Amino acid sequence: MTKIKCIGILTSGGDSPGMNAAIRAVTRAAIYNEIDVKGIYKGYKGLITKEIVPFKTNNVSNIIQQGGTILKTARCMEFMSVEGRKMAYDNMMEAGIDALVVIGGDGSLTGARIFAQEFNIPIVGIPGTIDNDLYGTDTTIGYDTALNTIMEAVDKIRDTATSHERLFFIEVMGRNAGFLTLNGAIAVGAEDAIIPEISIEVDQLEQLIENGFRKTKNSSIVLVAESEVTGGAMGMAERVKKEYPQYDVRVTILGHIQRGGSPTASDRILASRMGAAAIDALLEDQRNVMVGIQNDQIVYVPFSKAIRNDKPINRALLGTLRMLSI
Ligand code: F6P
Repeated sequence: MTKIKCIGILTSGGDSPGMNAAIRAVTRAAIYNEIDVKGIYKGYKGLITKEIVPFKTNNVSNIIQQGGTILKTARCMEFMSVEGRKMAYDNMMEAGIDALVVIGGDGSLTGARIFAQEFNIPIVGIPGTIDNDLYGTDTTIGYDTALNTIMEAVDKIRDTATSHERLFFIEVMGRNAGFLTLNGAIAVGAEDAIIPEISIEVDQLEQLIENGFRKTKNSSIVLVAESEVTGGAMGMAERVKKEYPQYDVRVTILGHIQRGGSPTASDRILASRMGAAAIDALLEDQRNVMVGIQNDQIVYVPFSKAIRNDKPINRALLGTLRMLSI
């Protein structure tokens, strides 16, 4: 077992609230264990362009409460090529970095996995994404904050929907996953949630109308997951205008507001625990794993499993949502 003397830390892909709390935890846990830390700016891109800065404990002071990522982030096309990764590796060696901690989502951990295999470097991943779509962890950093943001926004839309007796389709982020939409819908007491995991099998809009939608109500809120499968909120609204013109329909796309804001207590705690656990993993000579949380216990999930992209959604929640929205 070779002793790790210096780690590099980066955030990659879409940012998520709590990434700063994770950067703080990784940095401080490393320094506590006498490991040097280098902050790599703009994700994998910073490894290629040598935007690498030594980090001390005070580089991460006063950031636990901040949204976004102080390290900046990017989706880096160059890192997708062998030449780009070779350049990143050379720069990493030049900077004296022995191991990496990568905070990001599915795409970022896929990059980490390839990089680790190609150059035999220890890499530990931390799941930072609002989408909550990584397999092997009950939740990801940023998901809880995004859910709360959705809840606050939709509560406001509910006021105007009720006053005007309108049907609102509200589009929620999540890439190809419906976790934010389904759980957000429960949190706001929505009339329905349209998610790709279920829409692919049945026409959820048709079902919604057939099930006597708005029988007892004058206004309705339906959360729709962004996705080609669902057609998004716009797609739904277009269909309703054509097929059921009796409804007064409006659309709101929540957009990037869902990625911002100060992290909730849950996300700060999760990020702090995962950040510290990432350093534990490296000290225990674990490599190419993602830190996860299952039943409140830290676990290490091999990258190959985490990025399989088929994290199951609890379908029973849709039944609960519908039962409670009668
Ligand atoms: O993965 C996080 C996420 O916010 C997704 O929910 C969304 O589909 C995507 O990123 C948006 O990416 P961008 O910020 O590049 O538009």
